[in-house]
Amino acid sequence: MDAGEADDVAAGTALTSPVIETLKRRSSVRAFLDKEVPEAMLDAVLAAARQAPTSSNLQVYSFVVVRDPATKRRLAELAGGQDHVARAPVFVAICADIHRLDAVMAEAGGSLARDHLELSVVSIVDAALVGMAASLAGDSLGLGGCMIGGMRNDPEAVAQVLGLPDGVFVVFGMTLGWPAERPPAKPRLPDDAVIHRERYGAVDAAAAADIAGRYDALLEAHKRATEREDGVAWSRRMAAGFSEPKRPELLSALKTLGFRFD
Ligand SMILES: Cc1cc2nc3c(=O)[nH]c(=O)nc-3n(C[C@H](O)[C@H](O)[C@H](O)COP(=O)(O)O)c2cc1C
Repeated sequence: MDAGEADDVAAGTALTSPVIETLKRRSSVRAFLDKEVPEAMLDAVLAAARQAPTSSNLQVYSFVVVRDPATKRRLAELAGGQDHVARAPVFVAICADIHRLDAVMAEAGGSLARDHLELSVVSIVDAALVGMAASLAGDSLGLGGCMIGGMRNDPEAVAQVLGLPDGVFVVFGMTLGWPAERPPAKPRLPDDAVIHRERYGAVDAAAAADIAGRYDALLEAHKRATEREDGVAWSRRMAAGFSEPKRPELLSALKTLGFRFD
């Protein structure tokens, strides 16, 4: 569609495109066929992902592609015993990387100002964008996978396994393979709870109860339809699981790996 054609689209029309369809049906895949992902396919996925935008064209991220079964098993353990990491044909570590830029700048007679929060944030945002772009590119070819935040359980051990130098850490991983099962898309919070127009609409207690009520019901229906009922509503799961800080050692680990957050 070009900008001229867009004038004819009536409000409320259900627009679609291959990208929109891929996003609408996507879900995290944790079961894979015993079938390799051809190297050419992986190359296409990662090359496409690298067209993701990147702050100031710094490109402060890297991928580490892992196919070795022993390495995947070790990473699965470090992720808290997530067997699907070991069973996936491909694991891609998506790294924030200020090491390469530092080295390139030194060659060019400069010196990267590394010790500040903004560069750490920029590299994490870069990694997130390129990671999602890779996931979307993979989905568009019929592949599937799951992001693995469990890589931040022990970032120093992960860095050792992957031989990461100072200034590189795995923000999250991504499994990739041919789905043995692709779960139906999981519902999201209601649009009106998430999409604000012009100004943010505050979430007071009544709004919070309304959002929780609607989403709990939506997710329960989804769990029933997919036979994954566990009797715990989303809002209660959040309250029980996220009232304490997660990964309290993360700050000091990332500092050791060369990132600053102050
Ligand atoms: C950065 C990030 C880290 C994640 N880490 C894990 C993980 O370690 N293990 C896992 O099974 N799923 C992980 N997930 C998947 C989420 O649980 C999943 O995306 C969410 O429940 C929504 O489900 P859907 O992706 O099927 O729509 C992660 C997702 C993101 C974005």
